[in-house]
Amino acid sequence: MKIKIGVIGTGYVGLVTAVCLAELGHQVVGTDVVKEKIDFALAGRPHIYEPGLEELLQKNLKRGNLNFYHDLDKTIQDSDVLFVCVSTPQLADGRADMTYVEGVSRRIADNLNSYKLIVEKSTVPVRTSAWIKRVINLYRKNAENYDVASNPEFLREGSAVHDFLNPDRIIIGVESEKAEKILCQIYQKFADKILVTNIDTAELIKHASNSFLAMKISFINLISELCEKTEADVELVARGMGLDPRIGPQFLKAGVGYGGSCFPKDVRALIHIGEEMGVDFSLLKEVDKINTRRIYIFVNKVKQVLWVLREKKIAVLGLSFKPQTDDIRNAPSIEVIRELKKEGAYLRLYDPQAIANMKKIFPEQEPDLVYCPSAYEALEGANAGLIITEWPEFQNLDLRKVETIMSNPILIDGRNIFEPAEVRKMGFEYYSIGRK
Ligand code: UDX
Ligand code: UDX
Repeated sequence: MKIKIGVIGTGYVGLVTAVCLAELGHQVVGTDVVKEKIDFALAGRPHIYEPGLEELLQKNLKRGNLNFYHDLDKTIQDSDVLFVCVSTPQLADGRADMTYVEGVSRRIADNLNSYKLIVEKSTVPVRTSAWIKRVINLYRKNAENYDVASNPEFLREGSAVHDFLNPDRIIIGVESEKAEKILCQIYQKFADKILVTNIDTAELIKHASNSFLAMKISFINLISELCEKTEADVELVARGMGLDPRIGPQFLKAGVGYGGSCFPKDVRALIHIGEEMGVDFSLLKEVDKINTRRIYIFVNKVKQVLWVLREKKIAVLGLSFKPQTDDIRNAPSIEVIRELKKEGAYLRLYDPQAIANMKKIFPEQEPDLVYCPSAYEALEGANAGLIITEWPEFQNLDLRKVETIMSNPILIDGRNIFEPAEVRKMGFEYYSIGRK
């Protein structure tokens, strides 16, 4: 029997989930509280930038097995399986805000017209499934059967479609045979990648994985601080470490730190979960602290190089939290811009995708903060150029041209995208992370 899938919340995670589940051949309806997102999706235009998403959205809309409603109740009533992908933002004290997950759980209780499998896709604290069941049992109007399951997402922004369709693992946290059977059927194409656990285990795998990756990044960033005090080169330290298959080369790139909607939030959520359960996660408090101070280390480097920042023209290349996305949530660029604005610098900002999102935080304001249509225009007349996000186009800049258009050929590279010797040969003063 054809499983009817509802995806609740079509943001970065939900929209990719809806489109890719349809691509797997399932009957999918996406819904979101923001009507504009539904209208965009129905028009075949994702409201977010994600490589490959637009083509698959249009293909599956045309195929007829993908639809979008601006009607949560109807979506719930029409579906057998509900993937919950609503926001779980971070509260001031580090806890995940479960308001939206609770709200959706109540609406599911109101619309239990048949058996439903409720699947947590959003990154949620361990024990959330117990709360979802409690809410549904409190508010449901009938005795219709239902199950809750956890199927955490491991999508990296900028490669989310690829990651969904080429998973390393599919974690299925269930507490009934029926739920297991349904989810194994949904993911039958990846049968060899499925790991079935109980729900607590599945919920924890997600937080533990993200926190471990964040820890790896903070570790190499801490090592880069030591490299700056010695003759060591952090890129070679990372390469040397990564040759050990137990360590591996990935997520050992020193820079201005990690951002995004997951690492900062998931690290703090796990710290908080630990506090609630009486487990001391000081280790992750250090991970978070090391990451936060990356900004100030970088801004101090700019100050050391330029001395006075007031009215200095500074090009900021890269605003998104990482390449291949328009997402600026917790992007290092935000705090760097804030600190440089405090010093009275004249900022010229450029990013291939994220300018529209950054304008919502820092509106254009001549001459203090100007958005430029290209990296070259940002660098025109600049006293220094900062690399904050390693978009490939920055690596391919014509540095001879850059050297002639800048007022002072000074590059401060927050992501080590250039080779120091090469850039200096072209006449630049060049500074980077964890190396001379
Ligand atoms: C979010 C969480 O941040 C992440 O931890 C979780 O894994 C998945 O959901 P993301 O998709 O990046 O990740 O967030 P966002 O782009 O904000 O998408 C959430 C969507 O849910 C938004 O489109 C929002 O409009 C929608 N939403 C939120 C609802 O449809 N209903 C609600 O009640 C609340
Ligand atoms: C991450 C996880 O990779 C993904 O599995 C999970 O589902 C969601 O969170 P994402 O946040 O989209 O994905 O991007 P990721 O590629 O992990 O980068 C996260 C941040 O770490 C970025 O700001 C990136 O610049 C930074 N980073 C990454 C480093 O600073 N150094 C590295 O070596 C790798």
